[in-house]
Amino acid sequence: MERETVLADCAWGIDLEQAEAAERDRLARLTEELGAPVALLSGEEAAMSGPSLTSVGIRRLDLGERRELLKSALLRAGTPAGEEDHAAGVFDLTVDAAEAAASDAACGTPLWQACRERARPSFTGSVQVLRPRARWDDLVLPAGQLAQLHALVACVRYRARVLDDWDFAGRSPRDPGRVALFAGPSGTGKTLAAEVLAAELDLDLVRVDLSQVVSKWVGETERNLRRVFDAAEDSAAVLLFDEADALFGRRTEVRDSHDRYANLQTGYLLQRLETFRGLAVLTTNARSALDPAFTRRLHTVVTFPYPDLATREVLWREAFPPSTPVDGLDPAALAAEDLAGGGIAAVALSAAYLAAAAHGPVTREHLRTALQWELAKSGRSSFAG
Ligand SMILES: Nc1ncnc2c1ncn2[C@@H]1O[C@H](COP(=O)(O)OP(=O)(O)OP(=O)(O)O)[C@@H](O)[C@H]1O
Ligand SMILES: [Mg+2]
Repeated sequence: MERETVLADCAWGIDLEQAEAAERDRLARLTEELGAPVALLSGEEAAMSGPSLTSVGIRRLDLGERRELLKSALLRAGTPAGEEDHAAGVFDLTVDAAEAAASDAACGTPLWQACRERARPSFTGSVQVLRPRARWDDLVLPAGQLAQLHALVACVRYRARVLDDWDFAGRSPRDPGRVALFAGPSGTGKTLAAEVLAAELDLDLVRVDLSQVVSKWVGETERNLRRVFDAAEDSAAVLLFDEADALFGRRTEVRDSHDRYANLQTGYLLQRLETFRGLAVLTTNARSALDPAFTRRLHTVVTFPYPDLATREVLWREAFPPSTPVDGLDPAALAAEDLAGGGIAAVALSAAYLAAAAHGPVTREHLRTALQWELAKSGRSSFAG
């Protein structure tokens, strides 16, 4: 770098996101010695300090600015503005991306889709980006829970109207998103519901693998989480922390240094969730295990009930896709077996494979066998035995 500086008489822009923690300190020292202007770029506030460093904070555009950006890009691209409100409420585009989305729209791509494509950032390996397809019809839940889920969709879709036009943002300077907890026993449709929300909103669903995000290195977990949250904000993805109890569990009393770091991570997460601008869904089987400091910060808690007899019958009726050949399915009799939706889906799939291997339709016999296998997983046996 020193050689380049002398030969090319250049200034430097260094992206700290690419640098490991140890390298950062070395870079900081180096930049002090270079004698050339250096800009250190970081997503972290106060990533570094030093006598010769001046920190310049660059904030994200607020909702109104995003609207203006998209509107003027659309006008320049020759597309009549008017549709940009919803998209600007959700997607946080860079200037270049807004220009590109506007010209895609001018060529006939629907604006929402254009913004979604242009906003997509590259997530790192600790997350799984899903393009969900599940629909409301796939979800069997009581009316109250469905109403809560519909309300969550509205919270994302109508942000611009409520926060900006109706000025709820004026009451709170933050630009808050929604944090929802889906709590209920295993196999009751929590993950499926998150997929339905993302599909309904026409957004990606980003599933965070907590085991990969949590690092044994101090500070690395925060950094990993920050990247995930930032990327989700950039792309307006719905964030799914499946089986969140692992990270959100009751904050431990500090017994050793490891506990202290676990608490720091939870603290960071709580704080970041508060400022997250998108929709974050956390799921848990053990609601009681959640930290009260954390549940206070949730906007919505949806409880997923274990299905009763009548609901199980509906689940059985819908367990096979219409193109699966089925011979003499008896949903009422099957509903007598004590299985949640996840178990029912698993039995239906195993029975379908048994039928395919026998080159015929799914029969009661296949279902009985598959049922016994499924129940045996939890040490039970079937009534139909
Ligand atoms: N309420 C439901 N309505 C329709 N299908 C359901 C429902 N619950 C479960 N299923 C079926 O079971 C499958 C598994 O459900 P899902 O993964 O959403 O359960 P979960 O609550 O997330 O369970 P876990 O806590 O074990 O992660 C779904 O893909 C779906 O086929
Ligand atoms: Mg799940």
